[in-house]
Amino acid sequence: MGVKITDTTFRDAHQSLWATRMRTEDMLPVAEKMDNIGFHSLEVWGGATFDVCLRFLNEDPWERLRLLKKHVRRTPLQMLLRGQSLVGYQHYPDDVVEAFVDRAVANGIDIIRVFDALNDVRNLETSMRAAGKAGAHVQAAVVYTVSPVHTTGHYLETALKLAEMGADSICIKDMAGLLTPYHAYELVGLFKEKLAIPVQLHSHYIGGMAVGAYLKAAEAGVDVVDTASVPVAFGASQPPVETVVRILQGSPYDTGLDIGALFEIADYFEGLRKKGGFERGVTRITDMQVFGHQVPGGMISNLVTQLEEQKALHRLPEVLAEIPRVREELGFPPLVTPTSQIVGSQAVLNVLSGERYKLVPGEVKNYVKGYYGRSPAPLNEEIAGKILGDCAPVVCRPADLLKPQMEKMRAEVKDLAGCEEDVVSYALFPQVTRKFFENKNNPQGGGSMVNNNGKEINKLNLQDVKELIKMINETGIAEFSLESAGVKLAIRKNNPAGTAGSGFLPDPVPSAEGQPASVTPLQAIGGGAEEDLTPVTAPLVGTFYRAPAPDAPPFVKVGERVKAGQTLCIVEAMKLMNEIAAPDAGEVVKILVENGQPVEYGQILFQLKKEILTGQLS
Ligand code: CO
Repeated sequence: MGVKITDTTFRDAHQSLWATRMRTEDMLPVAEKMDNIGFHSLEVWGGATFDVCLRFLNEDPWERLRLLKKHVRRTPLQMLLRGQSLVGYQHYPDDVVEAFVDRAVANGIDIIRVFDALNDVRNLETSMRAAGKAGAHVQAAVVYTVSPVHTTGHYLETALKLAEMGADSICIKDMAGLLTPYHAYELVGLFKEKLAIPVQLHSHYIGGMAVGAYLKAAEAGVDVVDTASVPVAFGASQPPVETVVRILQGSPYDTGLDIGALFEIADYFEGLRKKGGFERGVTRITDMQVFGHQVPGGMISNLVTQLEEQKALHRLPEVLAEIPRVREELGFPPLVTPTSQIVGSQAVLNVLSGERYKLVPGEVKNYVKGYYGRSPAPLNEEIAGKILGDCAPVVCRPADLLKPQMEKMRAEVKDLAGCEEDVVSYALFPQVTRKFFENKNNPQGGGSMVNNNGKEINKLNLQDVKELIKMINETGIAEFSLESAGVKLAIRKNNPAGTAGSGFLPDPVPSAEGQPASVTPLQAIGGGAEEDLTPVTAPLVGTFYRAPAPDAPPFVKVGERVKAGQTLCIVEAMKLMNEIAAPDAGEVVKILVENGQPVEYGQILFQLKKEILTGQLS
């Protein structure tokens, strides 16, 4: 029996090399050809693809899955699921996990590969049960990393537990290309001996060891290995299928795949790569140093993007040096989503903010509180103490603390959701999905805003305001009032008679909350620092949110007095919600950014008027 091949070109490969930017329209022309190859499965969905579809590609991920299913009739479709985090970065309640898995299988997924970043099997219970119930093949993954606590015994124990929990097969998931050929031989051999179910090996090329690891795994009896088409292989991606097929040809492990047909497919992806201006998979020297920093190639790409956004790419070596420190302090989590983001972003913040753990994203706090599960090794006590304060970390299965949410989500998004899949998307990424729906309904982009005449205009930004003023001038309408996110703006003709020299000035009117309109977009865009005020600036490039959730009240309003350290807003950056705290006590006198707007590094978000202390200090 030869070794079987899972092709990852439509999921992991472009996630690792092209920032997950392959579109459905790029996949469909070659899908049938790939279906005819005789792959064990095609990994086409899950991981980051779901998020990126909604957030950046303006695509419905469910529609992608349905279209692929239409074109791929023979080969099972596979997805990657991050256990209780599904395709997101936090744990979701069980009912959301069940709904997601049910819909994924109903829309075409045959094999679900589940993993938990911490190898905490409690985090796989619900998704494995749901996948089995929906009729999918349940492949449970053991996440491979190198640390003092990640021993062969740990992997075997995890794999045995997963088999007991009903896994149909086991995957060794080596996301950083750390598995050496001889360790692959040992681990696969051990799993084949102790487990009665098939064993699959998933590795990344990085420094080239994956090819050797696959070869030794084949000798040890591995059932399936993961590869990608050559233009989307090498570097941070999987080894090329063409190489693996050639290596095993004529041996007892022969894959039986037609190398000529594989190169025809490669031609297609090479054209796509050139058209899109995407890089080949290359191995940088930093990638070769993976045993030092342990950072998977895909994560390095993310760090590069994040640091470029923060205009601090030159600090990458410092960040790479900081990562192993943070990882050790956090109990040696394997660096895979979401713990790779948790460790990576904390390392970036430690370097950029100039003080270690000065800025701690909500996700890191939650990790330390135990909301992601059990850390492989104990946390650094000093840092855990600093982050936890008086709270005790949780010890139960984290999802037991989460209340069912589907009904609430259904109610929240009933204005926009057309089907159950829409509700599930919203439950996973509320803000991103709402924006996606709004863009879909109003392709001009932006949220819904209604003027006096009930006519919809685009999201309020400077351009829109300018256009609006032009429109008012042209139509002779005397007054407009606009409403967005609880903020009202009235624009009125100064001189309705329309004599020469007249213009329009924004005129704040009371908002629905009875507060004076806190943000007039003209101020928001034109505003700058004023002398007697303390500016609160964005420590990162990201997206500004005034509230913790779309339906929640804002953290602060204009006129409100805040304490030092009180949360003022969230700047979402690097896929993390970073709470921005008031540096000093004071009164919020200005909010200079509109909810949901992008912010630049150092941009002023709030103006605080320092409190003059007349009473006693509290
Ligand atoms: Co991978």
